Amino acid sequence: MGGTILHKQTVRDVPIEGKTVLLRADYNVPLEDDGTIADDFRIRSSLDTIRYLHERGCKVVIISHLGRPDGKRTERDSLAPVAERLSDLLGHKVLFVDECIGDKVRMTIKRAPKNAIILLENLRFHNEEEANNKEFAAALAKSSGAKYFVQDGFGVVHRAHASTAAITLELPSVAGLLLEKEYTTIVSTMKQPAHPVIAVLGGAKVSDKIDVIEALEPIADTILIGGAMANTFLAAAGVSMGVSKLEDNQKTEVRKIYDVATKKVGKGNETQFLRLPRDFAVASSPDDDVERTIVPFNKVPDDQMALDIGDQTIEAFVRTIETAKTVIWNGTLGLAEHPIFAHGSARIALALATHPTITSIIGGGDTADFVLHWDANNGGSFSHVSTGGGASLELMAGKTLPGIASLLDSSR
Ligand code: 3PG
Repeated sequence: MGGTILHKQTVRDVPIEGKTVLLRADYNVPLEDDGTIADDFRIRSSLDTIRYLHERGCKVVIISHLGRPDGKRTERDSLAPVAERLSDLLGHKVLFVDECIGDKVRMTIKRAPKNAIILLENLRFHNEEEANNKEFAAALAKSSGAKYFVQDGFGVVHRAHASTAAITLELPSVAGLLLEKEYTTIVSTMKQPAHPVIAVLGGAKVSDKIDVIEALEPIADTILIGGAMANTFLAAAGVSMGVSKLEDNQKTEVRKIYDVATKKVGKGNETQFLRLPRDFAVASSPDDDVERTIVPFNKVPDDQMALDIGDQTIEAFVRTIETAKTVIWNGTLGLAEHPIFAHGSARIALALATHPTITSIIGGGDTADFVLHWDANNGGSFSHVSTGGGASLELMAGKTLPGIASLLDSSR
């Protein structure tokens, strides 16, 4: 893989030793119904930068959002449990402050020991965060007493919020190690991938992924499509999909995707390049007690829904993946939270995990959640599991991400 570099200053480029640093992380972690942390991948992914700063004697003040509380303080969206998990993972006490701006924050940070690690309460308890409010950003900078701002919340850099955009007007702002790794891995893969490149696309919405499909078409040798996205493609081609989940009115978008394919592989070869399922696992509903019944792609009964790719499709997709040097996977191939409809996604994960020579880039919140639960190795069986959902899609699609664009340029 080629070495695309981030043309932004990072924590390594500034004299950060012994300084107070305001660190933006993305601790928007999935929660169980009882509010406990369902998956701490985003917390674990933030450790390298925190340790880097801690080892250099910095006082580290961490800010994040959790959920979408819309400016209201809610118990469920408090970051207090994240502070506890972070303490456990770091093996170092993390102080938690139940506010993110104001005197209490300022005094706690001021009085904290020199190399303390402090997590502040959810930024989105203030409407000003999502409004990219300048005064709120100034209050964050002032309350923290920081000399530098470090952006390491890769999952949120596609948002122009106070803690991703306005804050960079208040403090010299550089990238953290996670942000740098996510950027260089994803952009290098998109720019100079080792061929054959197989893209695996699933998930619910074609409309959310149009840009990324268009960005992948020039670089991919084959695109495998599953999940509800496949239903939309087939419905747009006039195939009856029963009561399957799909998006109506996507004919024009699907046509555009095929037009790009025609230009790339020539008329008549599009279906070899853009591969849709040959069969599906169907059921009348996604309830717990239903069975996995396999039908050909064009025989989905009127009262049934496609909930996973079928067994023939799984074999065909796995065979294709086994020929790859690079696999970019975004979106589960069925209703992967339901074990009997997770066969397709699990077999793709297995094919990647057992072929260590394949560079595998896995992005998108649901896909990352799935492989992390599936993988006994905590994601280590894959080359790169992105902490970003929307952010990784937008980066793959070549969009400018405000939380990266606003950081200090580097002369590298
Ligand atoms: C994510 O989970 O994708 C990020 O944390 C951004 O969250 P948001 O979609 O609520 O802005």
